[in-house]
Amino acid sequence: MFSHLPTPTLDTIISLSAAYKKDTRANKVDLGIGVYKNSDGVTPIMRAVQQAQDIVVASQTTKAYVGIAGCEEFNQSMVDLVLKGTSAYERVATIQTPGASGGLRMFADLIHFAQPDTTVWLTNPSYVNHAPIMEAAGLRVKYYAYFNPVTKTVDTEAMLRDLAQAGPNDVVLLHGCCHNPTGADMSLDAWQSVTELAQANGFMPFVDAAYLGFGDSYEQDAAGLRFMADNVDEMMLTVSCSKNFGLYRERTGAAMVIGKNVTEAGNAKGKLQNLARASYTMPPDHGAALVKTVLQDDKLTAIWQQELVEMQQRLLSLRQTLCRELRNTYNTAQFDFIEQHKGMFTVLGLSPQQMTRLREEFAIYGVTDGRINVAGLTESDIPYVAESIMKVC
Ligand code: LMR
Repeated sequence: MFSHLPTPTLDTIISLSAAYKKDTRANKVDLGIGVYKNSDGVTPIMRAVQQAQDIVVASQTTKAYVGIAGCEEFNQSMVDLVLKGTSAYERVATIQTPGASGGLRMFADLIHFAQPDTTVWLTNPSYVNHAPIMEAAGLRVKYYAYFNPVTKTVDTEAMLRDLAQAGPNDVVLLHGCCHNPTGADMSLDAWQSVTELAQANGFMPFVDAAYLGFGDSYEQDAAGLRFMADNVDEMMLTVSCSKNFGLYRERTGAAMVIGKNVTEAGNAKGKLQNLARASYTMPPDHGAALVKTVLQDDKLTAIWQQELVEMQQRLLSLRQTLCRELRNTYNTAQFDFIEQHKGMFTVLGLSPQQMTRLREEFAIYGVTDGRINVAGLTESDIPYVAESIMKVC
């Protein structure tokens, strides 16, 4: 059965994380997988989540199954959080998924079921797992222009030119905010233009929102996708609780389908449930129980919002400190763009060889495509990281 299988190629991010764990060098710095660390280099359980956990542990009386769509109170809390105030709010149906990645895969399977010859357009470059998920579901993948490696910003003109080719057989995957891997985000004007194109040409927008609150603020980060949800007939949306609730290993996310009307959204949800049943049956409950507990309690919600602001502010300050170090100590403006980028990630513009040197010679783990996770830095790492970057340049 297995004798003809080739040696597997492992996902670049997950294998980097495994290599980092094995590295015994004392000065190693993990800027690979997208995980937030505090000044002590620890990924903390958020205070609101810890309090919710105490409540859940004290009050939970059973471990019986919840349901294929997961916890419906969690689903509603997530819809309230993300889509309240938009016209989509009344015609959205949601399932809880194992992380947003689980939602991406369920939507990929749904697209393949509804319209097997669909092409899914991804940003160039995109999150390393977008293409494998879409392709695993049997979908074709194409890339649209997104990032200009010279200006380190979104090339909106080229993006709109490419997306003008997309029509009713196409799905366009957009990053809700804090683009992975580049950190370069679309302006609200660009969101409006893509929305107009979707309505005029009939492609389906599919938004992957994994980092809401890590860019400018939750409200600002959600503004683009909310505008889109408010103004298109149909849309798919995956929302992750991994980063902004710090629930990584609990695999907590939601897949929201916005339909032309309640019936169509409900039918799509029904099919998503069939697909989930044929895959993992139902999502793990614990993370969703914590998020629901936070979002149903005003006091806990306020604590969570405050913690999210603290993380966002710290990310900004790490970006500023790294830029300042590179600018002042090495007299270079080459990396000033780091300050303009949003969220956890930035692509440094270094070659795969330079990224390999960073790892092999300096024990600094970034992704070979040049991505670093700014949220993996501690303040005390910054001088060493800046020095090492300059040495490989
Ligand atoms: C990342 O891009 O590092 C994260 O989203 C983790 C993952 O699942 O790949």
